[in-house]
Amino acid sequence: MSFYVTTPIYYVNAAPHLGHAYSMIAADVLARHMRQRGEDVFFLTGTDEHGEPVALAAEREGLTPRELVDRNAPRFKDLAPKLNISNDFFIRTSDPEHMAKVQEVLARVHENGHVYEGVYEGWYCPRCADFKTEAEAGEDHLCPIHRTALVREKEDNYFFRLSAFQDDLLELLDEQPDFVMPKHRYNEARTFIESGLQDVSLTRSTFTWGVPVPWDPDHVFYVWFDALLNYYTALSYAKPGEDLTDRFWPPQFHVIGKDILKFHTVFWPAMLMAAGLPLPRHVFVHGFLLMRDSGEDAELLKMSKSMGNVLDPFQIVEDFGADALRYYCMRDVSFGQDGEVSTARFAVLYESELANDFGNLASRTIAMVHRYRGGTVPPAEPDPDLAAEIDAVVADVSELLDRADLTGALDAIWQRVRRLNRYVEEQAPWVLARDDARAADLDRVLASLIGGLRVVAVVLHPWIPATVERLLGALDAPELALEGARTQAGRLGRIAKLEPLFPKPQLDPVA
Ligand code: MSP
Repeated sequence: MSFYVTTPIYYVNAAPHLGHAYSMIAADVLARHMRQRGEDVFFLTGTDEHGEPVALAAEREGLTPRELVDRNAPRFKDLAPKLNISNDFFIRTSDPEHMAKVQEVLARVHENGHVYEGVYEGWYCPRCADFKTEAEAGEDHLCPIHRTALVREKEDNYFFRLSAFQDDLLELLDEQPDFVMPKHRYNEARTFIESGLQDVSLTRSTFTWGVPVPWDPDHVFYVWFDALLNYYTALSYAKPGEDLTDRFWPPQFHVIGKDILKFHTVFWPAMLMAAGLPLPRHVFVHGFLLMRDSGEDAELLKMSKSMGNVLDPFQIVEDFGADALRYYCMRDVSFGQDGEVSTARFAVLYESELANDFGNLASRTIAMVHRYRGGTVPPAEPDPDLAAEIDAVVADVSELLDRADLTGALDAIWQRVRRLNRYVEEQAPWVLARDDARAADLDRVLASLIGGLRVVAVVLHPWIPATVERLLGALDAPELALEGARTQAGRLGRIAKLEPLFPKPQLDPVA
């Protein structure tokens, strides 16, 4: 089966922060897990480079928009390998192939009769690149997201007849209650649609940094439609000489943040319907990473560049490694909810869970095989009760990740990590080792522990891939397929010694 997963594409007019890393990591966990299940996976991320905010940012810096995006896009492109993200392609919406495909699809929408010419008059937030309804603008005419003044715009636009899709969208939500996940976001999308849809601008005519409208050269497409279409256009040119559209379209999961719900759960499916294209299977909406600001009352706010309360993912990776960051983001904030992050909590979880629970389990298990059996795993059958409990993690994790419950799945794995640690304490191999008559028991305990450790490591791979590869390398068992992840499976032979998986970080003293 094919599995296509996407992240939002990132605006290039600011530097990446942990909030951006977050959706990349989440989508990467899904992609890696599905590869372990033997699915045919395509994983896309990229940058959103057109539109008024970019044009304005370039103007402020005395650059052309092209110079600005060429300077900034690599900051996001470089973030992916730093985080060990396994994306199959990185799209930039300024790619000529993307632009040509956007023109093709939107010309079809035009030909299909879903576009008309008119004048837009209303409220607009330059920071969201979003037109706001009167209700959203409220009496104070402030952006509900940024709390900054909205601009009154009047311009010639072509409109997309979104209102005509209201019934089709409601029918979609009726028929596919898991189209938008989690449930409270589904309800939000439904309420928005039920409150009545207005037609939306499809084009802009007051600036030129965008995809030209083929039927009217005075216009460029509104950046959101250009951006949303990245999910579709990328497949047509990601692999040179091959069009992957038939193989991967439609996507299984769009992973997005809650601030862009309306675009992905209302505009996007309507646009696809208008173009006659199949719809994505799920839109998963995650919450915000929040962080206290440095003010006196240390208010908990959305992490964002403009608020100045950002964690720099590059620095965390530098100090602790990508795996620790990946783990922390998925563990400490329940995926789908808002949650506070902090360097203090990060340090606590690094020490207590990664270094102690998992790192020590691996170190002491391997050390005991060396101490008591000369580094060769005894060919004994594992403890059946323990094996059953550990092996059930594979089905549990698969079932949870089918619902993109990334935090729940990690919790299911951690219960097994803790189970294995308890098993060490219960069986006390160091006591068995003192009694020759109990050599077979010691063999069984060591085989159970190494076998269990291997299963846990394999299912954990999507979250902390580099660490798991190091551990499995030491066990001389690099196979990652979930099919073979059973405590009994295979015979492990000689194993290597292992340096601590999560050592104490060497941090530069704070100046
Ligand atoms: N370019 C649009 C998306 C177009 S997708 C067709 C955009 N870009 S963005 O750079 O502003 O945001 C990208 C993603 O980062 C969004 O999903 C947004 O929710 C997410 N985050 C930005 N700050 C965040 C947090 N503090 N916490 C979690 N995610 C947040 O929107």
